Amino acid sequence: MQTNDLIKTRILIIGSNGMLGQRLTEFYSDCSNCQLLCVSAEEKSFFDNVEYRTLDITNKNSVREVMLDFFPDYVINTAAFTNVDKSETEKEAAWKINVNGVENISLYSWTIDAHLIHISSDYIFDGKNGPYTEEDKPCPIGYYGRTKLASENAIRTSGVRFTIVRTNVLYGPAKFGRPDFVKWVFNSLREGRQINIVTDQINNPTYIDDLVNALHKIIEFKKEGIYNIGGEEILSRYDFTLRIADFFKLDKSLIVPIKTKELNQPAPRPLKSGLITLKAETELGYRATDFEETFALIKKELNISENNL
Ligand SMILES: NC(=O)c1ccc[n+]([C@@H]2O[C@H](COP(=O)([O-])OP(=O)(O)OC[C@H]3O[C@@H](n4cnc5c(N)ncnc54)[C@H](OP(=O)(O)O)[C@@H]3O)[C@@H](O)[C@H]2O)c1
Repeated sequence: MQTNDLIKTRILIIGSNGMLGQRLTEFYSDCSNCQLLCVSAEEKSFFDNVEYRTLDITNKNSVREVMLDFFPDYVINTAAFTNVDKSETEKEAAWKINVNGVENISLYSWTIDAHLIHISSDYIFDGKNGPYTEEDKPCPIGYYGRTKLASENAIRTSGVRFTIVRTNVLYGPAKFGRPDFVKWVFNSLREGRQINIVTDQINNPTYIDDLVNALHKIIEFKKEGIYNIGGEEILSRYDFTLRIADFFKLDKSLIVPIKTKELNQPAPRPLKSGLITLKAETELGYRATDFEETFALIKKELNISENNL
């Protein structure tokens, strides 16, 4: 360890190979005042230039070992069982990761007095009366939402210094793993595939890098409590899809409006949802990037030229 490493902020990113974890890793790997350790379930990191360890957050001893070895100032937990439909049929696995895993992280963050920043979801609400503030009463309607609410409660009762960041529909240029919604719409329409999009799910999709910047502000301003982070506009998924198609000059006639119940999905969805970000705007200086600007950033990052549109 070099002497200036002692004054660096030590940041542990858990779930660093996930969609959000990747962008956070890229952001902090450029930070000269930070000492970074990335951990995730997989054997290897997607990035060669970062210190990485495999960690299963459901293994209490492994979580303890990583925490006591690295002694982070901040722990950012992005790891989760995120498949909403599978959470209905694989309840035990979803609970183990989303609740017991978070209990392990909270316990050892508390033990070493690290500040835990945890990502939660608008799925803790029933979607009857959104958009929601940080003060609104949670009432999940599906098992995934129940596990995310239980994860929040586990943190709040653990005694750890914490910030819970609730977000919804993440999109952005994560390079590895499953495509985000924007990329999926782009690929489907470009290949001439018809897509069925719901008109009755309303929320404010969140550009991943806006969330990454907000997480950084939380660290910079040492903010604790609960913060909502969401996109600039609250709209239906159908309208969001039209905006994507407009921007990338794709065939909008391939976008078929449908209702959520026609999809017959195993998990119910909160319909009238979305997150009000006034608190983050006031206390963190948060400002969501305009949708079209985010599409332009994605286009640039993914090297999408006019020729292959
Ligand atoms: N994506 C969204 O639209 C959205 C919306 C609202 C809230 N959120 C929340 O935001 C956070 C990040 O979401 P995301 O979309 O980035 O999720 P993601 O892409 O599914 O990434 C989650 C990461 O956690 C890892 N993981 C799963 N189980 C683990 C375990 N036992 N130990 C260690 N790592 C484990 C996953 O590895 P494997 O892939 O190998 O399982 C994956 O790399 C989550 O808390 C999610 O609930 C996401």
